[in-house]
Amino acid sequence: MNILSSLLDLRTKRLSLDGKVGLVPTMGYLHPGHLSLVSRAKAENDHVIVTIFVNPTQFGANEDLSKYPRDLERDLELLKPLGVDVVWNPSAEIMYPSGYQTWVNVEALTNPLEGAMRPGHFKGVTTIVSKIFNATQPHKAYFGQKDAQQVAVIRRMTLDLNFPIEIVVCPTLREDDGLAMSSRNKYLNDEERKAATVLFRSLSEAKKLFDAGERDADVLRNKMKEVLGSEPLANVQYVSCADYDSLEELNLIENKALLSMAVFIGKTRLIDNFVLG
Ligand code: PAF
Repeated sequence: MNILSSLLDLRTKRLSLDGKVGLVPTMGYLHPGHLSLVSRAKAENDHVIVTIFVNPTQFGANEDLSKYPRDLERDLELLKPLGVDVVWNPSAEIMYPSGYQTWVNVEALTNPLEGAMRPGHFKGVTTIVSKIFNATQPHKAYFGQKDAQQVAVIRRMTLDLNFPIEIVVCPTLREDDGLAMSSRNKYLNDEERKAATVLFRSLSEAKKLFDAGERDADVLRNKMKEVLGSEPLANVQYVSCADYDSLEELNLIENKALLSMAVFIGKTRLIDNFVLG
């Protein structure tokens, strides 16, 4: 496993890789969800590149970048047995050289949901992902369904900018009690950790209604709000039942839809989603 930080070293190494290259971009503090993306990339490609970079431009002014969990040594230990060829861990100076002023911005798709709550977040994501795509030149790139809007936005960007890259979306990995795996779960104390299962429970209850034939989006949104409302530690930011592709809120579910939510449990902001249909 080559652990590289310079862009020149990465490019030199990339030129030596023959065959298909799979990319897993991450911000580190890896959990089994990330590792499942790496294993899938390994199974489907000749070589795998993992990037680890905590991207400052996707954090808002009120989101504490300095507190984002980091542990490179642990990440490298977790990646070692998975047959990763290259780990690229660039510095902020490499990704954002002094005087930086070039951005990639996807329009309508970034307005609702996470985009409305975290202004500028997706501009940071699409800019850094474009730069990582340029630097690593993968054939396939792997992302988790847990960040459903990120996946929709990156797909759109890949199409719009003609990146010759297949975007592979992998299922959300969950703890035994249903909590979606996330680097942010580390912030939860014991009481909050228990309370955090309410996201999964509310999505499951809404899906039960859908499976029983309910197609009124308001009924599903209300069910999710009702379950979330039963948990005193949960502070709901948004609950959505939207079209899977456009992310526009629905009245009636006729095609593939996305149930999603952002909920504060204490000071920790968690997101989760289910795809319907
Ligand atoms: O999903 C993430 O961890 C990040 O948003 C990504 C895609 C690595 C870009 O910084």
